[in-house]
Amino acid sequence: MKDIEVKNLRKTFGRKEKKVIAVDDVSFYVNRGEIFGFLGPNGAGKTTTINMLTGLLKKDSGEIKLLGKDPIKDWEYVKNKSNVSTAYFPMSGVLTIRQNLRVYAGLYNVKNREKKIDSLLEIFELTKLGNTKVVNLSSGEQTRTALCKGLINDPKLLFLDECTVGLDPDIAEKTRRIIKEYQKKNDCTILFTSHYMYEVEELCDRIAFIDKGNIIRIATADQLKKEIKKHTIELKVKDKHGELIKFLQDENINIIFAENNTIIFDVSLEKDKIYKILNKIFTKGFLLDDLHIKKPTLDDVFINFARSRK
Ligand SMILES: Nc1ncnc2c1ncn2[C@@H]1O[C@H](COP(=O)(O)OP(=O)(O)OP(=O)(O)O)[C@@H](O)[C@H]1O
Ligand SMILES: [Mg+2]
Repeated sequence: MKDIEVKNLRKTFGRKEKKVIAVDDVSFYVNRGEIFGFLGPNGAGKTTTINMLTGLLKKDSGEIKLLGKDPIKDWEYVKNKSNVSTAYFPMSGVLTIRQNLRVYAGLYNVKNREKKIDSLLEIFELTKLGNTKVVNLSSGEQTRTALCKGLINDPKLLFLDECTVGLDPDIAEKTRRIIKEYQKKNDCTILFTSHYMYEVEELCDRIAFIDKGNIIRIATADQLKKEIKKHTIELKVKDKHGELIKFLQDENINIIFAENNTIIFDVSLEKDKIYKILNKIFTKGFLLDDLHIKKPTLDDVFINFARSRK
């Protein structure tokens, strides 16, 4: 069962020389119960896509199916079963957290509203702030309020667009756990965007990389990382720093950083290449204080994608 199906979605803003193609030609699907990551540089078209899916923006062309339905024809059905949360969602500053959540509970036809609001405030550690005006909240507290809004109707389909911005590491970790537990318990389908690669890696089953309004690649984090065929090596040398740099240069090694006693360089993953180069360093008598071999991360994948398309 596919809960999100998008075909040839397109959205432009402005006209003539001011025309911006925000979403050029985007197609993808998300299976029921999947957490699907949407990654891409600033301005790639992620939020515009989500805004078209959630009915905030009108598409120029393309097809959207949510929960197996046409979200325009079956708007009431889709709306009641889905929700969106973003740190940048404008909540009313003059209303308290509780008052804001009451408005949303009304919009989404939530039953037992006060009980639902109480439980969400507790989950996101906002109980004491329930009667505080949103304008007086810290940015992390506002982000948590937006997450309460996102879960107010127990959605089966959830759009989380940068929903963890500004959270301190403790709350951010708890939030990831809450999202995971919620997803599992409700077999919820989630479209997730974030610029924090570790949380994308921790949460997402598959990832789409989007750039300039087009999806460039869809794969798992592991598949994407395996495609970067190099490891980064960081050495701290006891002495003969300059000689080691010269040696690495003679070996045609790509040195990324060399200062004081630290040298960082890339080694391609051709057969035995890492072993061979380290072996040469040792047999030539260079003495090391520290050695660190770093596998590619999702950060490296992102940087690779983004820079290759500039
Ligand atoms: N209402 C608008 N009017 C004109 N241009 C817009 C509008 N909304 C978005 N854009 C442009 O569309 C492009 C895509 O923006 P979008 O907000 O979808 O990017 P994003 O991938 O969400 O980026 P970020 O990572 O910064 O959130 C950008 O070039 C942006 O300037
Ligand atoms: Mg965005």
